[in-house]
Amino acid sequence: MKEKMDNIKNAALEMIEKATTSHELVDVRVKYLGKSGEISLLMRDMANVPKEERPNMGKMVNELRNAVESVLNEKTAKIEQEEKLARLKAEEIDVTLPSGAKELGTLHPLTLITRELIDIFTSMGFSVAEGPEIESDLYNFQLLNVPKDHPARDMQDTFYVNDNIVLRTQTSAVQARIMQKQQPPIRIISPGKVYRSDDDASHSPIFNQFEGLAIDKHITMGDLQGCLQTFAEKLFSKDTKVRLRPSYFPFTEPSVEVDVTCSMCHGKGCRVCKGTGWVEILGAGIVNPAVLDMCGIDSSVYSGFAFGFGIDRIAMIKYGIPNIKLLYENDVRFLKQFN
Ligand code: PHE
Repeated sequence: MKEKMDNIKNAALEMIEKATTSHELVDVRVKYLGKSGEISLLMRDMANVPKEERPNMGKMVNELRNAVESVLNEKTAKIEQEEKLARLKAEEIDVTLPSGAKELGTLHPLTLITRELIDIFTSMGFSVAEGPEIESDLYNFQLLNVPKDHPARDMQDTFYVNDNIVLRTQTSAVQARIMQKQQPPIRIISPGKVYRSDDDASHSPIFNQFEGLAIDKHITMGDLQGCLQTFAEKLFSKDTKVRLRPSYFPFTEPSVEVDVTCSMCHGKGCRVCKGTGWVEILGAGIVNPAVLDMCGIDSSVYSGFAFGFGIDRIAMIKYGIPNIKLLYENDVRFLKQFN
């Protein structure tokens, strides 16, 4: 019995001595001092000890338990302190270092281009006008010389709210509203959202248009051409040329479609201009006298020009964006490129 106790004591002390982590010390505690640990089990062997020796043996087992426990406690306290210091060291932070800068958002390319367009035209004397996106058929069509059932309605796939209300298909609706309210001289631009039931790589059911309207005495096609030439030079580059081709819109007469020399290849021919050197950017014309009269402006005294283009399309041409959908997906990897 005595020998067994000595062996246990030596083994326990050696294990404590060799332990390097608090986990290992917990193992030692379980192995020797736990409920069915080796020292606790010694008490059971007491049954085999002659009666008269039992008190003495019991005392010796208790001394053994105390001896092992006190060495173990001492080492545990020491190791736990070391571990705590190591943890603090690992987690150390320098609170005097400057914090990381907050990431800033950027303006959406459509916002950037719209601001640029507004700057260009306000510098030419135009001011910004706005109208509702849910618009009456009257302003979107009828006052623009497109009566109900007119075949020109087929040019625009319209979202009808009911027979008399539409999601506006064109910012031209703002033209009629302004002409009804204001006598010439008129010089307004009107950027805003428009809606058409159309959806592919270059069409989105919601997109943005930019309208221009100038009415005064003696306004001619020459004024329109000069205005658009200045616009194209400021938006793209000084060497940009503008070309007018005959076209048709119910609210302008004559009407034109307007091309500019390709800003990518400067007219040499490339993928963007499909090899032609020209890119179509807008529709325009001399305001149809019938529209002036319907909106309360005397067409025998006044004349005007109007133009309208897609802001999205201008952004796609200017920034080389291949698909209109990129403008509406809000993928930050895309949006970050337009600082
Ligand atoms: N509103 C026309 C369209 O959406 C563009 C346009 C505006 C044409 C003004 C002529 C004058 O296609």
